[in-house]
Amino acid sequence: MEQIHPDVSKVILSEEDIKGIVARMGAEITKDYAGKNPLLIAVLRGAVVFMGDVMRAIDCPLGIDFMAVSSYGDGAVSSGVVRIVKDLDTKIEGRDVLIIEDILDSGLTLKYLMKNLRSRRPASLEIAAFLVKDVPGQETAVTPRYVGAHVPDEFIVGYGLDFAERYRNLPYIGILKPEVYGK
Ligand code: PRP
Ligand code: MN
Ligand code: MG
Repeated sequence: MEQIHPDVSKVILSEEDIKGIVARMGAEITKDYAGKNPLLIAVLRGAVVFMGDVMRAIDCPLGIDFMAVSSYGDGAVSSGVVRIVKDLDTKIEGRDVLIIEDILDSGLTLKYLMKNLRSRRPASLEIAAFLVKDVPGQETAVTPRYVGAHVPDEFIVGYGLDFAERYRNLPYIGILKPEVYGK
């Protein structure tokens, strides 16, 4: 058994769980994009780990690019304002675009991205979200085509997800202890 970080109260998805989920998502994406050359767009910084794994689980020609969009900054709560920190280097008009995200929480980030990218006239635009947070009473504004797993309404870290830039390098998905983020 791997050592659990002392700030993590519970591991929700182990490395093995993650491997299985990513393989399943990669197979789905491979099937749907057969004969195409999709452009995978990862949302920095949280999605880098999932991007690195899922792109290797997809068996078709593809391109990758990155956007940096931040809504949380260093805080635990969304500021409500989405900001483009780094734009694409690729022209997406006519391309089959697949947004790669680590987690859909309020959906604010993805809602903004969908609207922004749709205006650039891609041939298609879909979302692959590794995690979707289930928040009671909250309707999400976007529906990802591919979802890895649903997680409870807790502070989730690891596998790219941070709190104040920490814990992104944990190889599993865990729940951060409330005392760490000052609840
Ligand atoms: C986190 C996460 C998603 C977004 C989800 O990013 O990686 O991109 O928040 O939240 P939402 O659905 O409520 O918009 P963050 O802004 O913390 O930047 P980061 O990826 O650099 O950690
Ligand atoms: Mn992010
Ligand atoms: Mg973050």
